[in-house]
Amino acid sequence: MNERIALSLIVLSSVLWHFGPAHAIEPGDPAKGEKVFRKCKACHAVGADAKAKVGPVLNGVVGQSAAAKSGFKYSKALLKAAEQDQLVWTVENLNEFLTKPKTFLPGTKMSFAGLRKEKDRQNIVAYLATFEVEGGS
Ligand code: HEC
Repeated sequence: MNERIALSLIVLSSVLWHFGPAHAIEPGDPAKGEKVFRKCKACHAVGADAKAKVGPVLNGVVGQSAAAKSGFKYSKALLKAAEQDQLVWTVENLNEFLTKPKTFLPGTKMSFAGLRKEKDRQNIVAYLATFEVEGGS
């Protein structure tokens, strides 16, 4: 992984944690997040040679508009959230989506019950944040 990017993400997330709104989410640990990502791997890939599977590639998804991966056939629910509500995958939105995808986004075709533990969600978002849009880490 590019250490400079990783370091600036850590600095940025700790700055946001300390000075952001009261509900800011504590930054996670990318190495622990990589282990949690095993739960997503059946459907999602990240990294340089990532290809869409059942779900879209997740490179660069943190901070990106929802449904932004060209060539992936998203559900109507997610397309509508992106177009009408301008849904962006902020850390907060990812945290909520990953808690219970079908509650956050009724009609999503992501068949995943959710990550119950807040730490798992924080760590996985920190892991995903290490991948830029072009892939690599
Ligand atoms: C059973 C397959 C499956 C599993 C397991 C799964 N996903 Fe998904 N995921 C999908 C599908 C399909 C979509 C597209 C959803 C839609 O169009 O409504 C999606 C969409 C997403 C999106 C939105 C992407 C975008 O471009 O807007 C994110 C973020 C995401 N998944 C993260 C995860 C994470 C993190 C995990 C593991 C904790 C996970 N998913 C587990 C199938 C899955």
